[in-house]
Amino acid sequence: MTDQASTVNDHDGAPLLEVEGLVKRFPIRRGLFGSGSVHAVEGVDLHIRPGEVLSLVGESGSGKSTLGACVTGMSKPTAGRIRFAGEDVALASRRGRAQFRRRVQPVFQDPRSSLDPRWPIERTIREPLDAYRVGSPADRTARVAELMDLVGLPRHLSARQPRQLSRGQQQRVAIAAALALGPELLVADEPVSALDVSVQAQILNLLDELRNRLKLALLFIAHDLSVVEHLSDRVAVMYLGRIVETGPVERIFASPEHPYTRALIDAIPHADPGRKMSRIRLTGEIPSPVNPPSGCRFHPRCPVAIEQCRTVDPPQTHFDQTHSAACHVAAAGLAQRTSTISALSKGATS
Ligand SMILES: Nc1ncnc2c1ncn2[C@@H]1O[C@H](COP(=O)(O)OP(=O)(O)OP(=O)(O)O)[C@@H](O)[C@H]1O
Ligand code: SF4
Ligand SMILES: [Mg+2]
Repeated sequence: MTDQASTVNDHDGAPLLEVEGLVKRFPIRRGLFGSGSVHAVEGVDLHIRPGEVLSLVGESGSGKSTLGACVTGMSKPTAGRIRFAGEDVALASRRGRAQFRRRVQPVFQDPRSSLDPRWPIERTIREPLDAYRVGSPADRTARVAELMDLVGLPRHLSARQPRQLSRGQQQRVAIAAALALGPELLVADEPVSALDVSVQAQILNLLDELRNRLKLALLFIAHDLSVVEHLSDRVAVMYLGRIVETGPVERIFASPEHPYTRALIDAIPHADPGRKMSRIRLTGEIPSPVNPPSGCRFHPRCPVAIEQCRTVDPPQTHFDQTHSAACHVAAAGLAQRTSTISALSKGATS
């Protein structure tokens, strides 16, 4: 059984999104006669429950955006399954697919990519309502005003064009447009990375407020862990196409099991200076996903790698019902802890 499949059953309520064995490869030509493929996503399982925030973190090139694009239907997986509200998205009827596009909405890093520069923002926010003919024209006008209030955009800005707004305001417009059709899941791909730090905090607060008010689920993609701590319920750490660790946000920060997760935490400038664990510094670059390393994909950069890591791909180990990681050394640590506890409890009862 996969890690994610097991954790789904450990919580109340059916998952809203289930991703199983997702693979996405991009064919490429190498030189005159060669060909190959970029292994961008390699066998990913994850799930998100209604109203839950799952943050997906990892370095540049780990496959986060590719995974996000598959989830929103913008990219077709090479293999694997995506189920939304129990329905296999690939097998859905035309009507089912149209419903899916309403219920799952993307938000991008650069808001300008989703805003037409010539349109006043009122039109951008209204466009999805017009496309799906939601209510009467008067209803749509009222809904645009409501959406502007919801994302904290003063109504007097409605006739402005994107270039007349700040980057933070532009991101609010993009979020309002994404919310227009009442989605249940937002897939936000680095929505604050292009913003100044103070504006980042405002947009993160807005997303937090929205998930509370609208019971929205969120797949929040980020390349560093520092921005996800306060917003997330759970965190999934991605490395070279794989999820290497997943668990509740408090567990991931307090007791990460995978050396890569530990390195990401140690890279946060204000990470707890009193932490007892030895620090791991990430050196070198993420290898090419055209020829991923054998065994554990992290082994060429891992400071605690053992011989087995070069050849054997580590399976997911469950540290408890909600926390798992794919690492031989972490699995051995768990086995040792378990045998010590069992020896101690035998000693106590004898
Ligand atoms: N259309 C494509 N054709 C070929 N390779 C691609 C394509 N899209 C992505 N890739 C490659 O797939 C890998 C994963 O890319 P992806 O953009 O998903 O990573 P990411 O984790 O989102 O990185 P970043 O933090 O830089 O946004 C990278 O090596 C990238 O170059
Ligand atoms: S499996 Fe080995 S190489 Fe991979 S993270 Fe664990 S210790 Fe490091
Ligand atoms: Mg990306």
